[in-house]
Amino acid sequence: MSVKTFNNKELDNQSISINVSEESKQFTLLHEINTILTSSLNLKDTLSRLFDTLDENMNLKKAVLTLTNPYTSELRIEVAYGITEKELHHASFENWKKINEEVLSTEKAKIVEMLDDKDPLLGESEKSVEESFICLPLTLGKEKIGTLSIKTLFENRETLYQNVRLLSIVTLMLSQEVKLKRLMETEKAVLRSENIKLKDELTKKYNIHNMIGKSSEMYHVYENIKQVANSTATVLIRGESGTGKELVSHAIHYNSSRKDSVFIRINCGAIPESLIESELFGYEKGAFTDAHHQKIGKFEASSNGTIFLDEIGELSPAMQVKLLRVLQEKEVTRIGGIQPIKVNLRVITATNKDLETAVKNNEFREDLYYRLNVFPIFIPSLRERKADIVLLAEHFLEKYSKENEKNINRISSKAIDLLTNYHWPGNVRELENCMERCVIVCDSKTIQASHLPPTLQKNEIEITVSDKNLSFQEIVQNFEAELIKDALKNTNGNKAKAARYLKTTQRIIGYKIKQYNIEGDFQEE
Ligand SMILES: Nc1ncnc2c1ncn2[C@@H]1O[C@H](COP(=O)(O)OP(=O)(O)O)[C@@H](O)[C@H]1O
Ligand SMILES: [Mg+2]
Repeated sequence: MSVKTFNNKELDNQSISINVSEESKQFTLLHEINTILTSSLNLKDTLSRLFDTLDENMNLKKAVLTLTNPYTSELRIEVAYGITEKELHHASFENWKKINEEVLSTEKAKIVEMLDDKDPLLGESEKSVEESFICLPLTLGKEKIGTLSIKTLFENRETLYQNVRLLSIVTLMLSQEVKLKRLMETEKAVLRSENIKLKDELTKKYNIHNMIGKSSEMYHVYENIKQVANSTATVLIRGESGTGKELVSHAIHYNSSRKDSVFIRINCGAIPESLIESELFGYEKGAFTDAHHQKIGKFEASSNGTIFLDEIGELSPAMQVKLLRVLQEKEVTRIGGIQPIKVNLRVITATNKDLETAVKNNEFREDLYYRLNVFPIFIPSLRERKADIVLLAEHFLEKYSKENEKNINRISSKAIDLLTNYHWPGNVRELENCMERCVIVCDSKTIQASHLPPTLQKNEIEITVSDKNLSFQEIVQNFEAELIKDALKNTNGNKAKAARYLKTTQRIIGYKIKQYNIEGDFQEE
């Protein structure tokens, strides 16, 4: 018996005479192995295909690939090829494992040209067969990745060393593949856990309990969301712009059994007429001049999830017909496609348009209107639920203070008056923008009236003027007093600064303060 150990360099230097046809055969084999290694992302699949190919080409009888656990450095069998369960527990296999450990720790290949009858590596059934044993380390730079060991029929020394040389190239390729696949698996695991975290966050964010508003009108909306979430009924969300229609559509999705699947929003008013069909239905390659690839439409992509068609009132008559068909047939046909595709849809739509008038004017199909209006949810405008204004303002104050790293935690009563009396044509969205601006301009702990945008301040004057029971002189005096109070508040009661603020003299300010008896009530805090 001849047992030899080689380091990598020595393996390369083994003078092996390979004839040309043998060399081209090996080259083809290496190419095939490379294709196998890069064909699948699953390491176990790749390895068993690799061993099949080696078996066909070098009469490999049994093979073991061990890999070190990157965290514990423990050597573990990844694939055992041609080895029965019984053989895995045979004493000879323990010896096999020991050799693997030794080869990896010394980083030197071990070759037994022919195992003799008493070799501890021989299993029960192998005693009379002429076998060679090859064990090679898998390393990459300083990193010890694992080992590849095989038992093969001994033909002659030349073939044996040709095989050794070929296997030493295979181990190098394997080392790189293992490392790459491990990196990808780690990355995949990180992405997966991030994905779960994000989904969790979305579910929390769009929980009904996170929607702000305690008015009876909003409780009605929450009830509607709960009732309809778990059905597949088409929902039509109505309400002025900025009332929270999109938020409600999210809440429906994230409270439904489809929450782990996709939520896709399409703004029907924002996509040009020429594109909306391909956006919604997709197309087959070659369906039109620019269709170089097949494209999956949003209906298909949202199957099993939720599709939210925002601003549905803007849909063209041609698309209205197509949408109606999808809702009725529950299938879509890609542009240029022949076969319709079944889709499991949950459709939510929203509009701020008066659809009933649009139907009367023949701008919106009546049959589609009835299809969409199965479960309407009306979100009242903000001025119809004044009770929610302060709650929402405080919510946005907290949100934007945090975002801007400011410590603002109060809204002055004067500012609250202005906020509640304003008519909010842009609803919650306008209130949110207003509070964000307040946080940016505020440099104290309290939002004062003066921090509010000019549109709300103007409102204050309108209130004063609109009081019909007052004389002209009284209105002017009230307005003057309010201006001075506001200036004093903004300057923390400093009369000189207030005078400068109003571009007048301190003497006039002093006189007016006495006249209107406003001394003492100018400080809010
Ligand atoms: N009840 C609410 N609680 C908290 N934020 C809200 C509420 N309603 C609306 N918003 C916020 O106001 C903004 C506008 O809401 P959105 O759903 O886009 O309105 P719409 O789709 O009706 O125009 C969004 O930033 C949304 O998060
Ligand atoms: Mg919207």
